[in-house]
Amino acid sequence: MRKKIVAGNWKMNLDYNEGLGVFSEIINMVKDEATGTQEAVICSPFIHIHSLVQLAKGYKVAVGAQNAHQAESGAYTGETSAKMIKSVGAAYVIIGHSERRQYFGESNELLAKKTDTVLKNDLRPIFCIGETLQEREANAHFDVIKTQLVEGVFHLDAAQFAKLVLAYEPVWAIGTGVTATSAQAQEIHAFIRKEIAAKYNQEVADSTTILYGGSCNPKNAAELFGCADIDGGLIGGASLKSRDFVDIVKAFN
Ligand code: PGA
Repeated sequence: MRKKIVAGNWKMNLDYNEGLGVFSEIINMVKDEATGTQEAVICSPFIHIHSLVQLAKGYKVAVGAQNAHQAESGAYTGETSAKMIKSVGAAYVIIGHSERRQYFGESNELLAKKTDTVLKNDLRPIFCIGETLQEREANAHFDVIKTQLVEGVFHLDAAQFAKLVLAYEPVWAIGTGVTATSAQAQEIHAFIRKEIAAKYNQEVADSTTILYGGSCNPKNAAELFGCADIDGGLIGGASLKSRDFVDIVKAFN
């Protein structure tokens, strides 16, 4: 069966010492309390990654980045490559978060290139898709999500696609406290899985991990994760508090 994952996205929060402190709490609580086979991941700012990987040795928490440049290396001042991220022991990279799409103008075409580079460097992309409020109100959400899949990841062959994690994050639910209802989320997750089956096959669709993100918290996680096509969460605000994050991880217990 497909892997269950709860991934934290710290965004641009927590300085170095704060990050190490929260992470130390998380790895110990996960060790003591999380009983299932679900994987916990923290996607931190680049600054933290090397140290978090060292701290995580012997623990069951993986570390990821929040972005990577599409080029392998070169004159791109201020950027960080997938190879560098891999070299410090990270396992995942978030690609195409709606904040990257919105504030940094990242297009599906660019994100397809980033996905290729991340996969080439043996890292697992957590590829984010999701509609804005205007798109949902215009009843365009299915089309928007299909386009994001087609242009962002459906160029991959089945073997590459198997390394991908998808995250459905309705933009109107991110950081707003407004969660998609479990019915709304399940409807989209089922749609995504149907599109994967149509593009690849049912086996690929059934083994793809699809996370939900957007105001997920310890109170609503169990209901969301209980839906047939929801395989975990991408957690923003609540991943900054060790107790909340680990309670969400434990929603699978
Ligand atoms: P949130 O963010 O949990 O704070 O809504 C989710 C995300 O942006 O990944």
